[in-house]
Amino acid sequence: MFFRKRSKKTIDKDAVAARLQHIAFIMDGNGRWAKAHGLPREGGHKVGATVFEKITRHCFDRGIRVVTVYAFSTENWSRPQKEVDAIMALLSDYLDYAEKKFKDYDARLVILGDKSRLSAELQEKIDRIERASADRGHVLNIALNYGARNELVSACNELIRAGKSTVTEADISDALYTRGCPDPDLVVRTGGDVRISNFLLWQSAYAEFYFTKTLWPDLSTDEVDRAIYDFCGRHRRFGGL
Ligand code: IPE
Ligand code: IPE
Ligand code: MG
Repeated sequence: MFFRKRSKKTIDKDAVAARLQHIAFIMDGNGRWAKAHGLPREGGHKVGATVFEKITRHCFDRGIRVVTVYAFSTENWSRPQKEVDAIMALLSDYLDYAEKKFKDYDARLVILGDKSRLSAELQEKIDRIERASADRGHVLNIALNYGARNELVSACNELIRAGKSTVTEADISDALYTRGCPDPDLVVRTGGDVRISNFLLWQSAYAEFYFTKTLWPDLSTDEVDRAIYDFCGRHRRFGGL
């Protein structure tokens, strides 16, 4: 029994941890949330950033070791510059928070994606935090300038440079941005769209999916608990019986 009486206080952390090592979120719906509240799109991203901080901490508290969030895709550069700048500024602020606070919940920061297109300032901050947090137990992966196709192409090129003429599945896994990280067990997408949008294509081969119409800024820890509960009741067969 994972959730006795489905009450928050009685969630069995060890039972969740045994089944759900890695949860990933496609944080979608900030723009629509802003529109519904009469705000510019940037206002939705601002609230979305605080929700992201809350949800991440909640997942760690629930016994989940790895949390991945899709923050900015390789395709999101096509948005208006004002919106891109606002998202990058929020990420920079979040990194300041991570640098101060991550130690308290034993969290390591890993950025998934091509960092070369980010500002020099952001790259320096990321390198510093990634290095300082490398030995910690929990992992927060932030997918930033991330695209799964770009990741696979970059992995292939890395393997070619290493002189490989044939490759194994393990070679590819070890050349992805997620190297060393378990595959996601559960992928949650908010915002009502039922698609992957170029996220963790290789790693999600056997992931479970949870789609909700809730817009990201409205996502509550109770709904995350419902997703976890739903996941824990599923029968994962991995092609077997
Ligand atoms: C946030 O949601 C995800 C990012 C790309 C930063 P959106 O900005 O895509 O919000 P919607 O889908 O337009 O509502
Ligand atoms: C997916 O959301 C990317 C992130 C959450 C960062 P998008 O809003 O970019 O995806 P599409 O355009 O609806 O597929
Ligand atoms: Mg969207």
